[in-house]
Amino acid sequence: MTNLQENEKPIAVFDSGLGGLTVFREILRQLPDENLIYFGDTARVPYGSKSRETIIHYTEQILNFLRTKEVKAIVVACNTVSAYALEELKDRVEVPIIGVVKPGAYAAVKQTKTRRIGVMGTEGTVRSGLYPTYIHEIDPSVLVFQKPCPLIVPLVEEGLWDDPLTTEAVRRYTRVFREEHIDTVIMGCTHYPLVRDTIRKVLGDDVTLVNPAYETTAALRRVLEEKGLLRTMDAPVTGPPYRFYVSDDPEKFKEFASRVLRFEIPEPRKIDIEAY
Ligand code: DGL
Repeated sequence: MTNLQENEKPIAVFDSGLGGLTVFREILRQLPDENLIYFGDTARVPYGSKSRETIIHYTEQILNFLRTKEVKAIVVACNTVSAYALEELKDRVEVPIIGVVKPGAYAAVKQTKTRRIGVMGTEGTVRSGLYPTYIHEIDPSVLVFQKPCPLIVPLVEEGLWDDPLTTEAVRRYTRVFREEHIDTVIMGCTHYPLVRDTIRKVLGDDVTLVNPAYETTAALRRVLEEKGLLRTMDAPVTGPPYRFYVSDDPEKFKEFASRVLRFEIPEPRKIDIEAY
């Protein structure tokens, strides 16, 4: 197999639902020549309140599905999966696989001046303790305040991105951050950047909001470069550049995904993820 053929293969991005599109969007911005496949497990969202065993089982099925798509790299655009399943499964995957937690931790340590970092995340991500672990690997003196925010994912999936209900949820969840005078908050769930304006409004301009998508994409680029897998602009067109797969209602996903990506996405295909 030549390098050129390998280059032309798509990158897979997956999440429990819409949230991973915030990472997909960043990959489009930083790596516009790449072909991308997205899978949203919309039938089984939210992942954040499920057990580690369940998340590992779901992730195995998704990786089996992606194996049928001949991808050259996989981006786990979900903090919960990155926290619960990545270490466990990464050696079973034949291509580079990148999560969002480590890059997010790195970005936050780079940003904080007071060494007081807040982490908003799902119950699973917070319970895993992976953000504090990675942050302390870089700088053990940083104080980390974690807050599970379980209502935000369903609010985002329902499209309530700019809504008093969402504002109230964010206000309650982030109270501890205001009390603890943190200066940097990690949006530790890929759904949260979709309500970034609300989080910004509640926390004010003095707090730095970290979206791990940026560093994750930078890490992806480094890996592709190292392995000679970056797709170049002059590579032949081998099919549609973006393909979307979901495990539930494609129409609802299409509407929201087009809103997130700001272009009309091609018809998503519904697959039976339980069959993998
Ligand atoms: N967007 C995912 C995350 O980053 C999962 C959210 C969920 O399904 O609960 O954690």
